[in-house]
Amino acid sequence: MELNSVFERLWKDYADQNPSVNKIYKLLSDEGEDIDNDHIAFRTLNYPSINIEVVARPFTTEGYLPCGEYVFMDKHLFARHYELPGNEKAPRVFISQLLLEECSPFIRSTFDDLLKKCDPAVFSSGELIYSGSLSADISYEVYMKMRQESEYAAWFYVFGFRANHFTVSINSLKKYNTISQVNELIKRSGFILNSSGGEIKGTPADLLQQSSIMADVVSVKFIEGVYEIPSCYYEFAQRFPDSDGRLYGGFSAKSADKIFESTNFYRKEQG
Ligand code: NI
Repeated sequence: MELNSVFERLWKDYADQNPSVNKIYKLLSDEGEDIDNDHIAFRTLNYPSINIEVVARPFTTEGYLPCGEYVFMDKHLFARHYELPGNEKAPRVFISQLLLEECSPFIRSTFDDLLKKCDPAVFSSGELIYSGSLSADISYEVYMKMRQESEYAAWFYVFGFRANHFTVSINSLKKYNTISQVNELIKRSGFILNSSGGEIKGTPADLLQQSSIMADVVSVKFIEGVYEIPSCYYEFAQRFPDSDGRLYGGFSAKSADKIFESTNFYRKEQG
């Protein structure tokens, strides 16, 4: 099926570039667990040529439908998630976009200039979601300046279109069937959890609990040289049944707001 190859290609790029992902996948597999993917996430900018609807296209053409919408006022983000009706095993797709009209002239003009130099054929092709940064020539100085205003913008400037994270479905695990158990295993194995707003985001009353590791620090080639910066992270999600007895399928803006910070800049040695 077409969708399987989309997810496989995204997974391969993501796992190849973020060493913790394969280590955690192996850790859970070695414990005898089968790993299902709760959702994947993408980031973009709200230009009509590359906005949420455009990024969603490889999924909507395969039957995915728009579901919940989420607003992140302080981070100047809007997000929507998509589901494939009738297929409970199909990962949800969560796509957020930066609202450029709420950003500084510096961020707007930087992205305006990059967008003008891009080949628009990529945007309308199925390749967009694998295409990485808008530019092959990225500057560490620009990255650091963007960070002061928006960690999200800075991350997107460097990494662009790719799976920002995959998410282990705790509901599908047999032995580690609470988020606390998963978190303990992850920490015991030497990974750093994102503790912004607490290690566990959400409560059973919210019908969704999430946690994530801090993004892997990887070497990135900038025009000024090679620097180590945070890339992508792995997330864990546990869903609870709603009043109809069905597992909740949506997201919580309050929790996602903190999960976004998993890609915030940090220095490895301080972790
Ligand atoms: Ni997520």
